[in-house]
Amino acid sequence: MRQVTVTEHLLTHQSMSASATGRFTSLLNELILSAKIISRSVNKAGLLDVLGGTGEVNVQGEQVQKLDEFANSILIHRMKRAGVLCAMASEENADLIPVPEKFQRGSYMLVFDPLDGSSNIDVNINVGTIFSILKRKDNSDKEVSLSEILQAGVEQVAAGYFLYGPSTMMVYTTGRGVNGFTLDPSVGEFLLSHPNMRIPEDGKIYSVNEGNQMYWDTPTKEIMETFRSKQNKLGKPYSLRYVGSLVADFHRTLLYGGIFLYPMDHKDPNKPSGKLRLMCEASPLSMVAEQAGGLGSDGSGRILDIKPDMLHQRVPLIIGSKNDVQFCIDHYKKAS
Ligand code: AHG
Ligand code: MN
Ligand code: MN
Ligand code: MN
Repeated sequence: MRQVTVTEHLLTHQSMSASATGRFTSLLNELILSAKIISRSVNKAGLLDVLGGTGEVNVQGEQVQKLDEFANSILIHRMKRAGVLCAMASEENADLIPVPEKFQRGSYMLVFDPLDGSSNIDVNINVGTIFSILKRKDNSDKEVSLSEILQAGVEQVAAGYFLYGPSTMMVYTTGRGVNGFTLDPSVGEFLLSHPNMRIPEDGKIYSVNEGNQMYWDTPTKEIMETFRSKQNKLGKPYSLRYVGSLVADFHRTLLYGGIFLYPMDHKDPNKPSGKLRLMCEASPLSMVAEQAGGLGSDGSGRILDIKPDMLHQRVPLIIGSKNDVQFCIDHYKKAS
C-alpha cells in the first residue's frame, strides 16, 4: 500500500479551508507527537519508572497511575505550544486548563483522556488516549469560560483515539468518515492502514463487565440475558469480550461489529450514571461510531445530543453496531 501520512490524508481528503487545514494540521501534529512520546513510554513501561500509582487520587476519585500523570503532562505541555488552542480539559484535571497568554492561542479547544485503561498498564494490556476537538463559538481573546467548553458532542470538529497495543494506531474523524493509521516506528510516521472504516450493522460480540450484574436495573439485566441466550437475532449466544480498556474494547467493536456497554449501575452511589465520562470518552467515541455507520447512546437517545452540565459528567454508554444499539434503546423504551 502506498505510504499516506495523516497530514497528506488530511490535506487531500478534508474539505476544510486552507487556513483551517493549516491550523488543524498543527493541532494534529502536536497531538501525534504527544502520542508518539506516550507510546514510547508505554512500550518500555517495565524498564522505566512509570508503572504503579503516584499515590494521588484524581477528581474522578481514582488512584492516579504514573503513566496517567506522564501522559497528562506530555499532552498539556505540548498542546499549550500548538499555537491553535485557547483551552483544554483533561480527565485528570478538575478544572479547565487555560492556554496562558504568553503562548500563541487559537480558537480550538481540546478535551482528552490522556491515558484510558489505567488499570491495565501494569499488566501490559492495551491502553489508549482519547481526544475531542471543539471550537470556541466567539473569536474573543478573553480567557475561555467553563460554559464555552461544555458543548454537546454534535459540536465536535473532530474526535478520535490512539491505541497503544501490539501496534500503535490512530483512528479519527473530522466528520467525513473514519480513517485508521498505524505507526511505523522505523520512520516515526502514522501511515494510512484502515481507510474509510465502517462498523458492521450487526455484530456477534457483546462487551460488558458482567461482574457488575447485581448492580444493574431490570431492563439492563434483560438486555444482557438476550445477548447470552438464543433469544436474539443470531439465534445463539453472542461471544463476550471485555478488555477493560474502553479504547481497546471500542476498537474491536469498530472493526468486528457488536456492542460495548457500560450501563448505569448502583455499585457506587456517587456514580449513578455509570463510570464513563461524557466529554472525554463517550462523545468522541460516539462521533467515531456514527461516522463509521454505528451508534452511541445513553440508552434513550444519542450521546452526541447530550449537552454537558459539568466537565466530568458521567453517562451510561451503549455503543457499536447500529442494530445492536437500537435493540437496547427499544428495550429500555418498552420497559419505561
Ligand atoms: P480510565 O483509565 O481513563 O479512567 O478509564 C477506565 C475505564 C475504561 O477504560 C474502561 O472501559 C472502564 O474503565 C473499565 O471499568 P471497569 O473496570 O469498572 O469494568
Ligand atoms: Mn482514570
Ligand atoms: Mn478512560
Ligand atoms: Mn484515563
